[in-house]
Amino acid sequence: MTEDHPTHIDPSAEFRARARIRDRADYEARHQESLVDPEGFWRRELAGLLGDWQQVRTGELPHPRWFVGARLNVSERCLDRHLDTPLRHKAALIWEGEPEGPQGQVETRTLTYFELHREVVRFAGALAALGVGSGDRVIIYMGMVPEAIVAMLACVRLGAVHSVVFGGFAAEALSSRILDCGARAVITQDGAWRRGTVLAMKSVVDKALESAPVDHVVVLRRIGETLPVTMQSGRDLWWDDAVDLRDPTRGGAAVQVDGEHPLFILYTSGSTGKPKGVLHSCAGYLAGVYLTTREAFDLRPEDLLWCTADIGWITGHSYVVYGPLANGASILIYEGAPNAPDPGRFWRIIERHGVSILYTAPTAIRAFMRWGDQWPGKSDLASLRLLGSVGEPIGPEAWHWYHRTIGGGRCPIVDTWWQTETGSMMLTTLPGAVAAKPGSTGLPLFGVDVAVVRADGSDCAPDETGLLVVRRPWPSMLRTIYGNEERFIAGYFAPMPGFYFTGDSARIDADGYVTVLGRVDDVLNVAGHRIGTAEIEAAVGTHPAVAESAAVGRPDDLKGQALVVFVTLRMGQTADAGLREAIRAQVAHEVGKFARPDEIRFTDALPKTRSGKIMRRFLKEIAAGKATTGDTSTLEDLGVLAALRAGNAEE
Ligand code: PRX
Repeated sequence: MTEDHPTHIDPSAEFRARARIRDRADYEARHQESLVDPEGFWRRELAGLLGDWQQVRTGELPHPRWFVGARLNVSERCLDRHLDTPLRHKAALIWEGEPEGPQGQVETRTLTYFELHREVVRFAGALAALGVGSGDRVIIYMGMVPEAIVAMLACVRLGAVHSVVFGGFAAEALSSRILDCGARAVITQDGAWRRGTVLAMKSVVDKALESAPVDHVVVLRRIGETLPVTMQSGRDLWWDDAVDLRDPTRGGAAVQVDGEHPLFILYTSGSTGKPKGVLHSCAGYLAGVYLTTREAFDLRPEDLLWCTADIGWITGHSYVVYGPLANGASILIYEGAPNAPDPGRFWRIIERHGVSILYTAPTAIRAFMRWGDQWPGKSDLASLRLLGSVGEPIGPEAWHWYHRTIGGGRCPIVDTWWQTETGSMMLTTLPGAVAAKPGSTGLPLFGVDVAVVRADGSDCAPDETGLLVVRRPWPSMLRTIYGNEERFIAGYFAPMPGFYFTGDSARIDADGYVTVLGRVDDVLNVAGHRIGTAEIEAAVGTHPAVAESAAVGRPDDLKGQALVVFVTLRMGQTADAGLREAIRAQVAHEVGKFARPDEIRFTDALPKTRSGKIMRRFLKEIAAGKATTGDTSTLEDLGVLAALRAGNAEE
């Protein structure tokens, strides 16, 4: 029931009194300044973060250059910069492993800024000894362990470009990423804890390297003797041995690079089968994540920030690693699943460590709702002062539950909209400045100029649904798709000339609040994972029984969207439960278990236009059990729809 919920929630007087930005007028003034006087704005707000630079920006969309003249090393800006300050021995990260004993016995590690810096310098020395240098690409395939962050920052220290691949990806997906970016080395671990079991990781790497060889593999021992791994001599090294082999005389000198030097590549799903390597650059990205971490979380020196995203996704890059560390904040990282060993785990973690900011995804919040209030009820959550949400729309129901049950009614919630491509948050409600409106994301962050437009590019009226675009460059925007500039232009700039096209539809209310409604392209958001329908179809198509397939999303209470695949079979194949399972397993094998379809529906034919294009709109309606709406005149064979519906009725 949502009727009795307020539609506006103002920050409390207490929160507002301590906030960095305390009212809408102040927010508006600064936002305006960030657009009309970016030079003055960024110089003041970044306060030396990037060192010296001459000009805030040259060039327009799609190819701006930001902070022209900056020379820096992002690992220095995140670490060394703090060592001569009172932050030197402050916790940079607090880690908790997954296994938990009945009395709450857990393994934890804390690394201060001094210690994290030392580990990064050592590991950078190890990579340098293996020949990794500026511009080289390195794949990081690890779970949530401190060394994953060490590995990222060590690459950056050398000017090398990391590409973190989420540990849930299968060997096929890993090898295609290794090949696409031409990686020289892979950094991994023997295995990782996940929901009470050990996931083998090194063996997945071994499999991936059969078709995508690299020079070096560095393996962290996380699990130890119980998980035997094969080490290929000449190629594979244990992490500790690699560190021992470094040249200690090389010191920790960080390679200074131009502000536009690539920082990392992160693969994400688009509307074709091949994932795209979103490329971010050093200075602009760091500026964006630094400022948004500080302002959207209204960061205080004493905060402990827990962003629950895996470092394999952009949220983990920006709000576990770069944004918080650039600000000298303390972060918490947790290795495992939210319900290991039971659904109270998150709340015990918050109590145990005194987490003050929790940043998580609606799909997790909906799962917690379902597991029941008794779980958070067992822990003391009084240390929390701010909550965040990211990854998909958080509907009013989940918003209010989060606010009341986790936030005790006292913590503002920032619903942040952004993308892998935007690098940092673009829309939210600054927590001390403006009211939150559950269901609506909020207002543009600094330097961000968004609009909702019609197909012809004209502005929509208030509350009219249209396409969400960005009208001018912002510092942390992607610079290109690695090795595929055409795809960069075609995907983001060709659809709406003059603008960056987000792929989302949205509307803006009379008050300026943006409500993001979802993707208009062939990208799904399943349990917070961004999945391209074409990627799934390509994986389904590798099963020998499959003739053709079409993947669509259907609304799902828990996952946001569930993945439904319509499949036609080759002649002579029998549609049965065994085949259904085999196709699901095939997707897990090709992409990863997280992408396994929720439902496989066999059909004799797929609805197509006369030119042979699959009409996904109809399939979506059928998957959702809705009546067919809209124009069916371009459909080649209307009988197909009837047959699909009949199939639907049987299930
Ligand atoms: O559709 C939007 C949705 O997630 C997409 C971006 O996915 P990804 O690149 O994986 O990045 C997710 C984490 C930043 C967007 O195009 N999305 C993200 N945040 C929100 C959202 N939809 C609604 N509200 C949000 N707060």
